[in-house]
Amino acid sequence: MSKQFDVVVIGGGPGGYVAAIRAAQLGFNVACIDEWKNAKGGPALGGTCTNIGCIPSKALLQSSEHYEHAGHAFADHGIKVEGLGIDVAKMLARKDNVVKQNNDGIAYLFKKNKVAFFHGRGSFVKASEAGYEIKVAGAAEESITGKHVIVATGSNARPLPGAPFDEENILSNDGALRVGAVPKKLALVGSGVIGLEMGSVWRRLGSEVTVLEALPTFLGAVDEQIAKEAKKAFDKQGLKIHLGVNVGEVKSGKNGLSIAYTDSKGEAQKLDVDKLIVSIGRIPNTIGLNPEAVGLQLDERGAIVVDDECKTSLPNVWAIGDVVRGPMLAHKAEEEGVAVAERIAGQHGHVNFNTIPWVIYTSPEIAWVGQTEQQLKASGRAYKAGTFPFLANGRARALGDTTGMVKFLADAATDEILGVHMVGPMVSELISEAVVAMEFKASAEDIARICHAHPSLSEATKEAALAVDKRTLNF
Ligand code: FAD
Ligand code: NAI
Repeated sequence: MSKQFDVVVIGGGPGGYVAAIRAAQLGFNVACIDEWKNAKGGPALGGTCTNIGCIPSKALLQSSEHYEHAGHAFADHGIKVEGLGIDVAKMLARKDNVVKQNNDGIAYLFKKNKVAFFHGRGSFVKASEAGYEIKVAGAAEESITGKHVIVATGSNARPLPGAPFDEENILSNDGALRVGAVPKKLALVGSGVIGLEMGSVWRRLGSEVTVLEALPTFLGAVDEQIAKEAKKAFDKQGLKIHLGVNVGEVKSGKNGLSIAYTDSKGEAQKLDVDKLIVSIGRIPNTIGLNPEAVGLQLDERGAIVVDDECKTSLPNVWAIGDVVRGPMLAHKAEEEGVAVAERIAGQHGHVNFNTIPWVIYTSPEIAWVGQTEQQLKASGRAYKAGTFPFLANGRARALGDTTGMVKFLADAATDEILGVHMVGPMVSELISEAVVAMEFKASAEDIARICHAHPSLSEATKEAALAVDKRTLNF
């Protein structure tokens, strides 16, 4: 006998667990199926984000940043550190504990919101009058039926052709977060978000890091001026980033790896390293979901086909997060989860793709929302730009971190904010003001006229807004 639910969510990552909670808040009888296992084989809710993504990477970025500060920046403050060392095992244990707190937090939220949790792999069996029957293959096999189904099965790391992940030498984001000792030499293929974040972690801890990137431009999706500023900072830190390369054969042996590639001039090169992290994007995941059983349509990339409202090719089956089109970001998955739960309840859930912020948690951090200057130029839209450097910000000077700037792009005629781009200290937090402003269709002048606390990094945001009208006060 199949257990009946109003809503069954397959996948307990940020998309799935948030969708389940919101659906429960709206009064539905909700089940969530997730197959992730912790080291002991028990459940570990939170998906890629919590287990091998956002959360553990930020924990290691924090630890490695403390280490770098203790080794370099503290001296300027008159703080003497002698005998500085890194206990990698302890750092990893702390990271694992941070992950566990998040796993447990979600399990608690499920109890609080009366979401029934099933640990195991969910796969479609058939459609019936009652909804969609789903088999859960876990410690025991169970059958559940949902009138509505939300698929939130996430994504997996894309391997390099001819170099499958062994998580020993050739690492995905999973292995990259578990390296037991600081590699002397580390290579990363792909200078995207993971490449820069994980490259920064291990460089700060002492690895000699080389990043091999296929494209000739650095961070092509980022505003050019901001990407240039970030590249300058990474070069200064000693992160070796080679652009326009073509990675060839990867030979992996007992003593490390040898990577053949051609550089941007077309010359053959060889790089010998202890470990290789491959960060060349991610593939939507429908492994084991059995979409064929019900005729759920996928596209050529393997993503579930959805419309603007996350409706799939099947009635009452929805899909959200990394397994569908759009940016692979935890907060995008969450917003889609909430919107779908509200649509199921007959409400008007909405996700504004124009105001989804991006953050790269390197040092300096990089954050943006809206359109880049190159996009505005390409679309022919008349715009005004204003920038303000952290060099002229009192709080940044006091912090001892004056790298970077804030940049505003506003419509030339109406002054509406079209994009805000930042590189510098704590811009992961500063970007929220820009998101709020854009959601309310604010003008640059609106931000320029708002009182910002002194001394604070957010004054750079206000000053960049003033710069749109060429009237900065402190630069
Ligand atoms: P996932 O988080 O992948 O969750 C899917 C879940 O479904 C998993 O638990 C999986 O086990 C389960 N599942 C899959 N198939 C089945 C099945 N058939 N039955 C049962 N369960 C199933 N994004 C950010 O916004 N900020 C960041 O800082 C950030 N950092 C990242 C760092 C790294 C190293 C990586 C790899 C990613 C990072 N991301 C970040 C991206 C973010 O992790 C993803 O966008 C997000 O996790 C997508 O959420 P999701 O719910 O769609 O899928
Ligand atoms: P990415 O898409 O950010 O970057 C991949 C990079 O690899 C690109 O620059 C691409 O040109 C390059 N590339 C592709 N094939 C290549 C090849 N054969 N040789 C050399 N270079 C090649 O993907 P990444 O870093 O794997 O991250 C996946 C996704 O996870 C991100 O796009 C993002 O959505 C998410 N993420 C988000 C984070 C955040 O929000 N802070 C942190 C980490 C990941």
